Amino acid sequence: MFSRIIATGSYLPKKIVKNHDFEKFLDTSDSWIVERSGIKSRRVAGDDQFVSDLGLEASKKALAQGCLSPNDIDLIIVATTTPDMIFPSTACILQKKLGVTECPAFDIQAVCTGFVYALSVADLFIKSGQAKNALVVGTEIYSRILNYSDRGTCVLFGDGAGAVVLSKSEHPGILSSSLHAQGDHMDKLCVPGWLSNGKAEGEPFVKMDGKGVFKFAVKAFEDVSRKVLKEANKKVEDVSWFIPHQANTRIMDATAKKLGLKSEKVVSTVHHHGNTSAASIPLALDEYNRKGKIQTGDGLLLVGVGGGFTWGGVFLNF
Ligand code: ACO
Repeated sequence: MFSRIIATGSYLPKKIVKNHDFEKFLDTSDSWIVERSGIKSRRVAGDDQFVSDLGLEASKKALAQGCLSPNDIDLIIVATTTPDMIFPSTACILQKKLGVTECPAFDIQAVCTGFVYALSVADLFIKSGQAKNALVVGTEIYSRILNYSDRGTCVLFGDGAGAVVLSKSEHPGILSSSLHAQGDHMDKLCVPGWLSNGKAEGEPFVKMDGKGVFKFAVKAFEDVSRKVLKEANKKVEDVSWFIPHQANTRIMDATAKKLGLKSEKVVSTVHHHGNTSAASIPLALDEYNRKGKIQTGDGLLLVGVGGGFTWGGVFLNF
């Protein structure tokens, strides 16, 4: 028994923030941001929006594309770092908003690797016969955990959501996956805040050692890419599309070069999405799918790296 992505969807909030907008209150420039990250603009959620709302819109589009109704879904996994509330999980809130009567629903917190973790877990549910149609969502509102006086981080992130329906199939879809974490690196990328007695304590904003993340990410992307390709019995030439977590173009380009992948095969949406953490891979996948660039049967290599550090990859036939 196999699992296969049968539909994709995504949602971006309306408000567009361009690099020039940061020049008004920060010592930064459009050219610095573009040169170092490839990012030109990002979306920012409205004050009245929660990540479940972004995830809801992305999920509705995926369900429509798959010609499914909400109650065809028998598993919901949401990857997010910025949940609606402490509990219940965003997956349960999304389940209610979608009108799914009952099914397992839970969140996965693996920061920017969250979607790869969620997809791998959904694959296991399907392969073990515990689910037939899983809704796997990555949704984030990073604009609420950014320190807008820290020019080294606040210019890099954006808000958005992406979703896929992963269904039981007789034909191979997901061929291999590999998940990793090393908590030793927790200080390099973190939001060191918590709640206590009704107040936010610590520093509930993104903190990052940019150079440390860069170095680790390129090596982790390369290593996990080679691992999932080997496990799927595939070669680099079998990759139709490389869809890395959209952190920045320099990390993606450096990884593609190390792997010997042609730049035309690298899916890149970071220039107008920014880094949307767990939402970045399904957002990029949906954009290329809806543009008709990704075709049925294409070999997709999805890889993520995020806070923890966590990292992981999936190779699949679309
Ligand atoms: N505008 C202008 N100058 C800036 C800005 C900014 N937005 N941010 C930092 N600078 C300055 C620094 O203060 C420093 O100035 P100084 O030399 O006077 O001290 C100078 O630019 C160089 O700073 P570095 O941090 O050394 O710049 P670097 O070349 O490493 O680029 C960057 C920084 C873009 C963050 C880079 O390290 C990077 O891409 N890292 C990867 C991080 C990433 O993508 N994180 C995303 C989250 S992690 C993930 O998703 C996997």
